[in-house]
Amino acid sequence: MHELTTELTELLAAAAAARERAYCPYSRFAVGAAVRTASGALFYGCNIENAAYPSTICAERVALFSAYAAGERAIVALAVIADTPEPVSPCGGCRQVMFELAPRAVVLLANLRSAWRVTLVEELLPAGFAFIDR
Ligand code: THU
Repeated sequence: MHELTTELTELLAAAAAARERAYCPYSRFAVGAAVRTASGALFYGCNIENAAYPSTICAERVALFSAYAAGERAIVALAVIADTPEPVSPCGGCRQVMFELAPRAVVLLANLRSAWRVTLVEELLPAGFAFIDR
């Protein structure tokens, strides 16, 4: 079991705030995410749905892509929160994106009932797909 540090608790608060901004009129399932980079910068993500359902994007990807779009690639930690019975379990697509964009990140998974789990990208997706050296 990995520890829930003060820094991760702060990141979780940011993810919870981002969740309030989810655009999810189809699923009504709001997800929030937040990313911390080595420079100390913070990036937010929420799921953003679309009437053309596959055009929807998950909260985790919005947060990671926001960091990259701002030129911040050294992802230290990622927090994700949703209203699930257990700490939210990121989808396979987001795990693959974490594997490539944030391979050494600590990941805090949480729900609205104060349940949490601290894990690592390498635990969420061992042996992910890659064909370039990183
Ligand atoms: N969703 C996320 O934002 N992250 C995940 O890891 C799983 C699913 C979103 C996508 C969609 O808007 C809604 O949750 C229901 O699938």
